[in-house]
Amino acid sequence: MSRQPPKSRSGERLVVLRGGESRAATGVVWLVGAGPGDPELLTIKALKALQAADVVVHDGLVSADILDLAPAAARRIDVAKRKSRHTLPQDEINRLLVAFAREGLTVVRLKAGDPFVFGRGGEELLACHEAGVECRVVPGVTAALAAGAPLTHRGAAQAVTFVTGHAAAGPDGLAGEPSLDWASLARPNQTVVIYMGLTTAPAIAGKLMAAGRAGSTPALIVENASRDDERRVPTPLAGLAEAAEGVHGPALLLVGEAVAEENLVRRPEALELLAAQAAGGVA
Ligand SMILES: C[S@@+](CC[C@H](N)C(=O)[O-])C[C@H]1O[C@@H](n2cnc3c(N)ncnc32)[C@H](O)[C@@H]1O
Repeated sequence: MSRQPPKSRSGERLVVLRGGESRAATGVVWLVGAGPGDPELLTIKALKALQAADVVVHDGLVSADILDLAPAAARRIDVAKRKSRHTLPQDEINRLLVAFAREGLTVVRLKAGDPFVFGRGGEELLACHEAGVECRVVPGVTAALAAGAPLTHRGAAQAVTFVTGHAAAGPDGLAGEPSLDWASLARPNQTVVIYMGLTTAPAIAGKLMAAGRAGSTPALIVENASRDDERRVPTPLAGLAEAAEGVHGPALLLVGEAVAEENLVRRPEALELLAAQAAGGVA
């Protein structure tokens, strides 16, 4: 993406060029994917952008370990939390990014996972474009890729679909049902990964089974993927709603033969357990 020519606006930082000429410098917005939580899953480019930040505008899901990679002097703004505990509206976030860049600052907009996967990154990119502010995008590892399960698998899944389980609240204030193409999602030979689907898990399981997915289809809930407190709960699809009841952290629901228990990545704890078993240490 090419740099936009600097525009002269009041309040912009002035840069003195060789020969004494001065011009207004517009900053840049870096739209950066922070990955699923483990700081080692950041890209090198994301790390470099963070290290150059004057301001970091971040979501609630971005961990302190990652935020600490920014310079101590960089201002941090959590747009997920305000005094009222409400998330800053998207328009205000867009305005904030543009305003900081117009002050000549290097702004890192840090988002969980990848900015363009259920992250509203497209809207922020557009807002920068419309304001004539340069926006550079650094992709991140989306949560599904850290689930510890194959998403495609020979003979089991030739396709993977990411969907949102979020449903707009009805007049009673309760979450309704997500509006999705259930017939297509219930087709075999694919893995369906549902983001933001914990509260609508009963509806999702019901709709998939009503559309023809067997209740015995393997499913998996992954909470806090890649973090120290990661938890994985395998269940048949018919048990998904019940399994979701005890899960509260950010979590994904995965459905399809590829995520059957025997295919899951063995985490270090599981490997230690297997080693102990092999040594006769565990009954
Ligand atoms: C607003 S979406 C953001 C997704 C993000 N842009 C990405 O690419 O992963 C938030 C949802 O992502 C999922 N999520 C994000 N991080 C996660 C993690 N570490 N473990 C499990 N699910 C996660 C959860 O479904 C959560 O409700």
